[in-house]
Amino acid sequence: MTADTLAGWSAANRRRAEAMLAAYPDRRSAVMPLLYLAAMEHGHITEDAMREVAALTGMTPAQVQSVASFYTMYKRDGVGRYLISVCTSISCFLLGSDALLAAVEEETGTAGGESSDDGLFSVEHVECIGACGGAPALQVNYELVEGVAPDKGAALCRWLRDAGPEIVLSDEMQQLFGGRRSFDWAIREHEGAVAPVPAFAPYGSSGEEGA
Ligand code: FES
Repeated sequence: MTADTLAGWSAANRRRAEAMLAAYPDRRSAVMPLLYLAAMEHGHITEDAMREVAALTGMTPAQVQSVASFYTMYKRDGVGRYLISVCTSISCFLLGSDALLAAVEEETGTAGGESSDDGLFSVEHVECIGACGGAPALQVNYELVEGVAPDKGAALCRWLRDAGPEIVLSDEMQQLFGGRRSFDWAIREHEGAVAPVPAFAPYGSSGEEGA
């Protein structure tokens, strides 16, 4: 069924889908990673992708849609190459996230909740991303940067535009544009995100080739 259902997908993503389905005793349990994989394949989660995931898992399209529409990290509309998520919850708000968001919006020419015309950026404001001790914080393709002053946020956007990194890596961005962190992670990160999807090797969305 997988081969027929995913005939239009890349060979690498078909292999990843097979591996995800094989990893669970019940195919339905693969619905969430498969939705991320669908986002990788199509750029965002399309109606067709939800039907494909439904066929793979034995769920109904309505059940898959209910999962995809519940979680904000499943993007139903096109997303730019770099998704910039600025936290505006209370700790970040108290330490200037409004000014940071404004700087990001101005530098990218993109209002919160929208994407730039050239497809390079999407900007969004999000609820707490678990880095309150390093507020204000943002993420680029879900890679975290803490203690970001507005001028550094703008510089980060310029760097993304000018350098166009294939892989965005939290440690690198933190070193270049971050400030105080919640705590020292101790172990340096060696993978990064290759797409506006959380970076995991099995999804093919990290710098490390997945199964
Ligand atoms: S309030 Fe911004 S990371 Fe928690």
